[in-house]
Amino acid sequence: MVERTEESERRWAWVVAGVIFFVFAVIVYDGVRWAAQPPSNVETIDAGRLHLAGEFVETNLGTEVVSDESVVVRVIAEQYSFVPSCIVVPADTKVVFRVTSPDVVHGFLIAGTNVNSMVLPGFVAEVRTRFERPGDHLMPCQEYCSVGHQGMWARVKVLERGEFTRSYGSRPRASCSMAASSSTASRAT
Ligand code: CUA
Repeated sequence: MVERTEESERRWAWVVAGVIFFVFAVIVYDGVRWAAQPPSNVETIDAGRLHLAGEFVETNLGTEVVSDESVVVRVIAEQYSFVPSCIVVPADTKVVFRVTSPDVVHGFLIAGTNVNSMVLPGFVAEVRTRFERPGDHLMPCQEYCSVGHQGMWARVKVLERGEFTRSYGSRPRASCSMAASSSTASRAT
């Protein structure tokens, strides 16, 4: 009787070890597959004065063309929306996202890519990426930020580089939420 208990305990110890190993393997596989990396940009900002002065004033939000090869996208994540709510970027171009929050912790995630970062008030989250081809991506808030959380999302529109330049190249800051209302209406249907 005593021996059988020991045997079964040993068996269960192996089962538990197997489960732990499996979970760990899933984490490693997922991290490698999505090239996940911890956010490394520790940059502080005064969350209470974002709208008054500095990099994140309203007129500076959206996509800034830095050169033919790179753009910077500045976004505010606030309860319960992203500003701008529709982000437009050129494909096959270096994209630097700079995101911050005036209120609580939000999450910044672009579906179908490895872009995923927490957005903390008082800090600027910076994520560098490159979209290989044109297409639309959803950008939901992925950090619970209170009652309106599930309705907080934006979209990212990746345009072929020439098309981006034709449509938005002349604007100091681009976003598709400022595009003609007819196209917004047709997208909504
Ligand atoms: Cu913002 Cu959840």
